Amino acid sequence: MDLKGQVGIITGAARGIGKEIAFALARRGVNCVLCDMDTKQVNETAEEIANLGVETLPITLNVADLSQVEQMKNKVIDKFQRIDILINNAGITKDGLLLRMKEADWDAVISVNLKGTFNCTKAVIKAMVQKRYGRIVNIASIIGLIGNVGQANYSASKAGIIGLTKSTARETALRNINVNAIAPGFIETKMTKVLSDDVKSALLKQIPLGRFGKPEDVADLVIFLVSDKSSYITGQVVQINGGMLM
Ligand SMILES: NC(=O)c1ccc[n+]([C@@H]2O[C@H](COP(=O)([O-])OP(=O)(O)OC[C@H]3O[C@@H](n4cnc5c(N)ncnc54)[C@H](O)[C@@H]3O)[C@@H](O)[C@H]2O)c1
Repeated sequence: MDLKGQVGIITGAARGIGKEIAFALARRGVNCVLCDMDTKQVNETAEEIANLGVETLPITLNVADLSQVEQMKNKVIDKFQRIDILINNAGITKDGLLLRMKEADWDAVISVNLKGTFNCTKAVIKAMVQKRYGRIVNIASIIGLIGNVGQANYSASKAGIIGLTKSTARETALRNINVNAIAPGFIETKMTKVLSDDVKSALLKQIPLGRFGKPEDVADLVIFLVSDKSSYITGQVVQINGGMLM
């Protein structure tokens, strides 16, 4: 798995799953472009990652804003002249029952999760096509496959990411660009910390492997999907959920 010298863009990289993915890529020699809304945290994460001996470029942006994403891409090309890997990981939740869900909460979640993934993919795809190489991994969710009470916006955004993944994979396959989605189950991060103990213990009962996932579990799968060990895999949704959905 020689990824040394490649350039990877990771969105939502300041903390949680995105941060762990950036670390895993950096440990294999990938120069990391860390994109996040949280300037302070993304700069701190970039400093930590630079200690691993790779180049880092922290960028504050909102993935939902195409012009900010285009500016980011231009900075990456100026600095590195290549983009090999894109990890669309930035995501938010704004939960509520459909009956009471505010239009603004629907729009926000679709804009960040789904449009953000579209924006970043659209921005990098030309550079990948020109180089005849690329690996894109979109972070979806088990909720995009099975739905969830109170998460109509989130599940629709993640199901949308799955459709986007498959269309992008078909459009770019002949250019040696592989595009896959990962659908994690319950992973221990700040996003899931807010759930009550009752909800957590009910969830745990549904997980055959008997534990929640760790960001490292997802990062290991990302490494496989960006490596040449997975060169015959594209347009897939790879589940990682301790057996919660089979
Ligand atoms: N934690 C889980 O159980 C779980 C399960 C399935 C899928 N996921 C998905 O994994 C991804 C990462 O989740 P996490 O648990 O690490 O979440 P997290 O909230 O800990 O981290 C998300 C990061 O994205 C950044 N972000 C949010 N909105 C942004 C925007 N508009 N532009 C740029 N950056 C933005 C945040 O600042 C934060 O650093 C998300 O897409 C999430 O939906 C998480």
